[in-house]
Amino acid sequence: MKALVCGGAGYIGSHMARLLAAHGHEVVVLDDLSTGHAQAVQWGRLVEADVLNLPSLEAAFAGQRFDAVFHFCARSLVAESIARPYDYYASNVVGTLNLLEAMRRHGVRRLVFSSSASVYGQPASGMVGEDHPTQPTHPYGASKLMAERILADAAVAYGLDSVALRYFNAAGATADACIGESHACETHLIPNVLRAVLGSGPALEIFGGDYSTPDGTCIRDYVHVEDLAQAHLQALDYLRAHPGAHAFNLGNGRGFSVRQVIAAASVVTGRTVPWDMAPRRAGDPPMLVASSQRARAELGWSPAWTGLEAIIESAWRWHRAQPW
Ligand code: UFG
Repeated sequence: MKALVCGGAGYIGSHMARLLAAHGHEVVVLDDLSTGHAQAVQWGRLVEADVLNLPSLEAAFAGQRFDAVFHFCARSLVAESIARPYDYYASNVVGTLNLLEAMRRHGVRRLVFSSSASVYGQPASGMVGEDHPTQPTHPYGASKLMAERILADAAVAYGLDSVALRYFNAAGATADACIGESHACETHLIPNVLRAVLGSGPALEIFGGDYSTPDGTCIRDYVHVEDLAQAHLQALDYLRAHPGAHAFNLGNGRGFSVRQVIAAASVVTGRTVPWDMAPRRAGDPPMLVASSQRARAELGWSPAWTGLEAIIESAWRWHRAQPW
């Protein structure tokens, strides 16, 4: 198979490219390198293109016959999406439309789309299944939900087969630490914890200790980036027998609080995590834990990385190997 990995220089996209290559597939990475890294493109040819730049997108498709597209290009910072919504709707909705139109023109009929648990907004509590109401509370989540809606319409109008994968909290790095999470503006908990331990970042700020959770801090479902990549491969297989537009949650089904993540990171690193209590961060739901029963039953997906400490340990190996 020849696969186009849009956003393949980024965190999850680069793990996808690696997995596809390990399965013997030909990989082309499309990335504008605005947040991705050229050095993360190790398993396929890099085409520098921007989904908002139509000539560059057309050039990426010209003369190629892609069997499938994996779409990871997106802006993904919640706070930034609230401050600059037009940029988010442009990149995540218009950019997706441009990509879909290029696929249609070039006869590419299968897509696996990087969606997000943020389509659910602020779930009341408990495990979130795919039939939970979708009520995003910020432009980032709304942009992902809109893209999913477009995929459903594209299935009817143009016969595009797609799977949207709603990630909960992506975490970790490859076991050999050759690629990992590296954002110029890091907002995610586990990298910030590890940077605080290494002294390459400030003391961790815990965003709110007064939530209605057992220890007062927010609870999330951390899922390893390699398990996410694996689900994309299985989603593509699923489309062979199940045309149409589908959506699946991807998570481990276990929630950990910010304080539990800090405690696990102390065990893994053997060091104390410096932290300060800070006010709540806008838009954070108290608890977000996936029911991934549908992905397990229909895709046959089952995460290999189920322990929080093992996930943090893989991220720790990557962070320690970086020059920062
Ligand atoms: N947190 C801190 N300090 C930090 C970073 C995070 O206390 O420095 C807390 C957050 O407040 C939250 C938890 O750690 O309670 C997890 O935060 P992350 O930023 O790591 O992840 P989010 O749950 O906010 O975000 C993830 C994805 C987003 C997606 C969102 C859906 O990264 O892309 O889930 O809710 F939009």
